[in-house]
Amino acid sequence: MAKKPPPPSEDEIQRALAGEALPGDDQLDRRLRPESFGDFVGQDDLKRNLQLYIQAARARKEPLDHVLLSGPPGLGKTTLAGIIAREMGAGFRSTSGPALERPADLVGLLTGLEPGDVLFIDEIHRIGTVVEEYLYSAMDDFKIDVVIDKGPGARAIKIDLKPFTLVAATTREGLLTGPFRSRFGIPEKLAYYGPEDLVRIVRRSAGILGIEVDDAGAMELARRARGTPRVANRFLKRVRDVAEVRRAGTVTAEIAGEGLAMLGVDERGLDRMDRQILDALRKHGGGPIGLKTIAVTVGEEEDTIEEVYEPFLIQGGYVQKTPKGRRLGPAGYQVLGVKPPKEEPGLF
Ligand SMILES: Nc1ncnc2c1ncn2[C@@H]1O[C@H](COP(=O)(O)OP(=O)(O)O)[C@@H](O)[C@H]1O
Ligand SMILES: [Mg+2]
Repeated sequence: MAKKPPPPSEDEIQRALAGEALPGDDQLDRRLRPESFGDFVGQDDLKRNLQLYIQAARARKEPLDHVLLSGPPGLGKTTLAGIIAREMGAGFRSTSGPALERPADLVGLLTGLEPGDVLFIDEIHRIGTVVEEYLYSAMDDFKIDVVIDKGPGARAIKIDLKPFTLVAATTREGLLTGPFRSRFGIPEKLAYYGPEDLVRIVRRSAGILGIEVDDAGAMELARRARGTPRVANRFLKRVRDVAEVRRAGTVTAEIAGEGLAMLGVDERGLDRMDRQILDALRKHGGGPIGLKTIAVTVGEEEDTIEEVYEPFLIQGGYVQKTPKGRRLGPAGYQVLGVKPPKEEPGLF
């Protein structure tokens, strides 16, 4: 029997709420993961594009062009990679940027691919520079140059690979080099989900998990899930516990509200770390201040703030990114109950 994972730490809860997967919790992700485009809610343009490309590739009996999926955590990148492989009728191999440290790690993986396989590399922006260059020729013409031996006896041999499709995911597309990015024939960005799509996702997940949710309860979870399916699913799982303790058979808006309050999630879906970030900006006169200053003030890593928290804060108008640094946006001032400074006419 699998050992029960230890309860998550405060830090892990924060990250999970922002959409990051928790190590012990990815079972939930897997259970709720859509397996076909039909089950994959929303992202209509992206789905239409992918379905068209897949249809065309299948008709030509060729592997699909390489795909780059970018967007904040929890929006469905890993899910889509699996769906692409399934719809192509292809095998699926999966790894991640940090796991590909040395070229040898990559070579072993590439030479093991069957014709048409989908190779999924998560967090592709974390791949080593040398490994990245190996990947270029593999992506361009399904060949890699491998250097055998060291010193005077060293020689390069070319290894032919089976044609394959690289599906890469990243939360930080901006960190990819131009030459790397241009090698993906199908670059797609995932956008935050609207409340209606999230309601559908909550309903779907509730059905799978056998949880009863009424309309207002589903809407409450959807509205506060910061546009992120993974967050909506986590909320659902948590408020089910509240419903059980209250001996309520159904997750209502009231039960949902109580559960979310326990998680430190406010009316707008902001959690403690979000509010700490806004508070850090307020302490510095509303900004602009550098990411580093924010990181030090809230005690979180710069990368995490930039990848996990900021995209939502920026898109909601809570934070603005300017050439001089981050500053509070109109919605940020509203949350803090502080009046924005006067000298910015036209902004508010
Ligand atoms: N479009 C969607 N429809 C339904 N569920 C989704 C959708 N996108 C994501 N999910 C759910 O959210 C979870 C996280 O998705 P995932 O693909 O792991 O995100 P990412 O790889 O972008 O971090 C999945 O387990 C899935 O249950
Ligand atoms: Mg993922």
